[in-house]
Amino acid sequence: MKRSELNQLMREALDFIAGHGFHLPPFVTWTMEDWKTKNQEYAEIKDNMLGWDITDFGSGDFYSHGLLLITLRNGNFHDPKYKKPYAEKLLIAREGQVTPYHFHWKKMEDIINRGGGRLVLKCYNSGPDGQMLDTPVNILKDGRSYFVPAGEEVRLENGESITLVTGQYHCFWAEGGTCLIGEVSVMNDDNVDNRFHDPVGRFPEIEEDEPILYPLFSDYPELKD
Ligand SMILES: [Fe+2]
Repeated sequence: MKRSELNQLMREALDFIAGHGFHLPPFVTWTMEDWKTKNQEYAEIKDNMLGWDITDFGSGDFYSHGLLLITLRNGNFHDPKYKKPYAEKLLIAREGQVTPYHFHWKKMEDIINRGGGRLVLKCYNSGPDGQMLDTPVNILKDGRSYFVPAGEEVRLENGESITLVTGQYHCFWAEGGTCLIGEVSVMNDDNVDNRFHDPVGRFPEIEEDEPILYPLFSDYPELKD
């Protein structure tokens, strides 16, 4: 993806989020100049991969297969000084913009429709070799437990949520407008915890065609400590 495209997606995301009355922590809108003024007191942001995460899943077309995420809080599997066992993210999915089938090895997550359009998900159980099974899928949705046929569309209206257990394949997209999505989960390392059904790229190659507006978390190694 081009940096200019990432910058523009960030501007649009901030407008969309503000329009829903959701307030973000300060580090989300730190510029590169701001980052130069931040010392080790802020190490947790880099260490735990907080902040911007925008991906086209290697598709080359963000609007067909893509997702914008902001990690608001997270723990750390590798550093015991971080005690937080949970994570929270804010996601934006556009109408028809698919996050492809994947499951998580360790992350159990609730996906919450916080506002905007409807969120549509399809789920499958996975087999021992990572295959999709055709067995009925247990849907855990706002205190209700029920079964649907494998791959049946499940719709989340505003305020509704679904609990996705480890090993449960899920894909999703928005319907009827851009959807503001909350994610509450156990702590998460996206470098190793995603098992996509079809091989995709989780983090985009970036063409630096203009200056960085706000760094992605994957840009943090470039920032000096
Ligand atoms: Fe997921």
